[in-house]
Amino acid sequence: MNQTSNTTTSNPHHWLEQITRWYEKHEHTIINELREFLSIPSVSTDSRFRDDVLECATFLKEYLQDKVGASTKLIPTQGFPIVYGELIHNPRLPSILIYGHYDVQPPDPLDQWNTPPFDPTIRNGAIYARGASDDKGQLWLLIQAIRFAIREQQLPCNIYFLLEGEEEIGSPALTAYLQEHALPAIDVSLVSDTSIPSENQPGITVSLRGIAYFQLDIWGPARDLHSGVYGGAVLNPATLLTHILNQIYDIHSGKIQIPNFYNDVIELTTQERTLLAKGTPPPEAFQQDTGLPPHAEQGYTYHESRTIRPSFDINGLWSGYQGEGSKTIIPASAHAKFSFRLVPNQNWQTIAQLVQTFIQSLIPNGIRYKLHTFHGGNPYRLPLNSPYYQLAEQAYALTFGTQPLPLYEGGSIPIVSLLAERTQRDVLLMGFGLPTDQIHAPNEHFKLHMLKRGIQTIGTFLYLLAHHHESQT
Ligand code: BES
Ligand code: ZN
Repeated sequence: MNQTSNTTTSNPHHWLEQITRWYEKHEHTIINELREFLSIPSVSTDSRFRDDVLECATFLKEYLQDKVGASTKLIPTQGFPIVYGELIHNPRLPSILIYGHYDVQPPDPLDQWNTPPFDPTIRNGAIYARGASDDKGQLWLLIQAIRFAIREQQLPCNIYFLLEGEEEIGSPALTAYLQEHALPAIDVSLVSDTSIPSENQPGITVSLRGIAYFQLDIWGPARDLHSGVYGGAVLNPATLLTHILNQIYDIHSGKIQIPNFYNDVIELTTQERTLLAKGTPPPEAFQQDTGLPPHAEQGYTYHESRTIRPSFDINGLWSGYQGEGSKTIIPASAHAKFSFRLVPNQNWQTIAQLVQTFIQSLIPNGIRYKLHTFHGGNPYRLPLNSPYYQLAEQAYALTFGTQPLPLYEGGSIPIVSLLAERTQRDVLLMGFGLPTDQIHAPNEHFKLHMLKRGIQTIGTFLYLLAHHHESQT
């Protein structure tokens, strides 16, 4: 087969120069179109934004259709639609599935933004908006690289798009969809929704934590009671709630105390721990970033504790009087939102069972409670000897001039492990966010330089993949 050499250059350096020239020529349009994408407030968790999320899905579908030449459809779900697209040259060519999300986190606290979150603004070489880095800006660079490589250069690859609007709420609709529908046969999935250590030090994410998220409500007296008249004679639901939370997690050892919780956790090899240590930020930088000294699990470094070890966090906690001054009551109810980050080979449903059993065992007779499981996702790990890892490595090295590191990410992209399972193929996490992008926080931004680097790297990756395939057939 000699198709590649007819349509593209046979030298990756030359190809990279072509991408760069193409990007520079179209930069203005690419950025303006991204601004349009970012100006749609697609906040999935808040029903007030429902119409905006739907509008965003339609925007994306039409963009892929009109500007990228894909045949697209919106797949309706119980929740927000899946934007599906196909760009198929020939079924025998290598096929890549692109996953990304068009939903974003809520923008609050609004008063801490220097410019409004849905009025994308360019300053200091970055674009500021909710979703600029997570994930609209990164999805944009994938789309643009494909637009160049596949549409304009006719690089011999097939592309499938699978883009969802519920990642930030745990991907319930896409999970259900994947459980019921087969996906087309592909070679690899590609995702840009992670970050790299710095502009000069690229990396490839080889590990993601899973998640299991809960809310516990405990009801106490029929109404708020006078704490002098009744205190000591009834069980205070807030006291019980904090007791339960304290039983789950031991602050001194940093360990989760639910029986059997660690049963399925795989320990990293010494070699992997050495690799992981290379990505550890210096403690001063960590403290500067968080405003706190590190607090690690016993027996592990703080970087290990936040990447390859499970963790427990209370995400919200409320009960009783919160107004000014004091009020002597026993509150009628107490509530907590909490979640666990999980690591290979933990399974979130198994963990949810353990949590349920444990909490039930701590609730005294006669106390009414409800444990609500919001969502979950399993952890993911890519084998370092994956041929796709090696192609991605070359693409980053060519573009950045520096060899990328394998990265162990503490965050979650809940659908990734299911995607790997359902396609029986690797999921490659080629991210371009920076630790300073302030994702999920006020003043989220994405460096324009990283937008360009991303397009160059992904474009190069596609080229290497097409040639790799060709050399194998
Ligand atoms: N893009 C992030 C995951 C991420 C975070 C990658 C930090 C790299 C660095 C993703 O959109 C995200 O925030 N996921 C949520 C999932 C949850 C809501 C189910 C997370 O990890 O909290
Ligand atoms: Zn994301």
